[in-house]
Amino acid sequence: MPTNRPANADRFLWGCASSSYQIEGAVRADGRGPSIWDTFSHTPGKIAGADTGDVACDHYHRMDEDLDLMADLGVQSYRFSIAWPRIQPTGVGAPLAAGLDFYDRLVDGLLARGISPMATCYHWDLPQALEDRGGWRVRGTAEAFAQYCSIVASRLGDRVPHWCTINEPWCSWWLGYVQGNHAPGAQETGRTRWQIAHNLMLAHGLGTRAIRAAVPPQVKVGMAFNTFDFEPFAEEPEHIAAARNRYERENAWLLGTMMRGEYPRDRFAELGADAPEVAPGDMAAIAAPLDFVGLNIYQNRGLTHAQRGQIDAEPWHPRTDFDWAVTPDCLYWGIRFAHEVFGVRDIMITENGCCYPDVVDAHGRVDDVARIAYLKGHLRGVERARREGLPVTGYYLWSILDNFEWAEGYGKRFGIVHVDFKTLKRTPKASFEWYRSVIRRDGVEAQPAAIRDIAAAG
Ligand code: FCB
Repeated sequence: MPTNRPANADRFLWGCASSSYQIEGAVRADGRGPSIWDTFSHTPGKIAGADTGDVACDHYHRMDEDLDLMADLGVQSYRFSIAWPRIQPTGVGAPLAAGLDFYDRLVDGLLARGISPMATCYHWDLPQALEDRGGWRVRGTAEAFAQYCSIVASRLGDRVPHWCTINEPWCSWWLGYVQGNHAPGAQETGRTRWQIAHNLMLAHGLGTRAIRAAVPPQVKVGMAFNTFDFEPFAEEPEHIAAARNRYERENAWLLGTMMRGEYPRDRFAELGADAPEVAPGDMAAIAAPLDFVGLNIYQNRGLTHAQRGQIDAEPWHPRTDFDWAVTPDCLYWGIRFAHEVFGVRDIMITENGCCYPDVVDAHGRVDDVARIAYLKGHLRGVERARREGLPVTGYYLWSILDNFEWAEGYGKRFGIVHVDFKTLKRTPKASFEWYRSVIRRDGVEAQPAAIRDIAAAG
């Protein structure tokens, strides 16, 4: 089997990422059922510009073109997600052959180009029929998820070496069911609110078990978290300790519970009657050891000072088009604290990237210098972590293509390939060429051998 990884590479994987609803389109093709994002995006007032994922990048029909782009990029791994409603239109019952065939072709297409697949089972597109029966409020959804995981892992597990059960449980929970600005747009309170987080973690646990039962032993199963990240004011022990404590507090409910197998006791007690119901065996399932932890990190929350506490970035701090502050050291500290605080032993950056209002110029080019600067700064943090021996084993750039950015619609462009959403034409941006060079050289900074080559060429 061909591979884009040089024979002498260490274990580090360079990748790019996407998710099903954000790129596939073809929402009614081949029997796919509706998901909560179809319903939500068709509800007036929910999405900027009234955009929907009906067509998106039409990746469903343009998969080969997109795979060729990835081959041209020389990327070593691709993180995609599987649309549950393509496999089981109502979330339960017999799988659709056409849905499984699509991901089968995707996996084979990747392998034929030397690209290692990483599959995410759930990137937010819950079958609407399950939402109608309670969605993540009920544990039946976690049980249904495990069955779905078993179906997809049985079909693809012989060729997919990395699996993520769930993408960013905090977003599914908080944005979808508490804040309500993501699908299904609920605003739950009281015990229901906390039960949803529990059911998502349980789904991960049961899903992990189901995947492991279906795949060869060397396959790695993990999950992708969006941690809340903090950076010490200065690299003095007292500031580092302050940032580490803050990190511990803010990430204890999800990542902490999953790593430790128990909820933070004081906070669980504080919830009183609102605390989630925990059935016997739930905590053991939730804490099933992970082969890797995926971290989706885009920014941190300003600087943490030992005496002054949190110092937030000012409004005029450099920001991306999402209004997220550009804080390049977030990756280094995010990796280090996940390891130091929660004992994570294998970390992959499963998402990192930025959005800017990129346009194709008169020469047909997209010179996204701002994205290159963002990525360069952030990747230096990954390189520092690798140099210091922290256990980081991969980096996935979000995203390969401009795509449907949830409540923001198509206005927020995260891709290293520009997509014209009228014609669906793909145009690799300057960052695409730049990232290709990073992958080839295994990092932002030229390795000593390359410096010698440059000197010789000069
Ligand atoms: C993450 C999501 C991903 C994308 C990026 C920008 O929270 O996992 O789908 O929207 O943010």
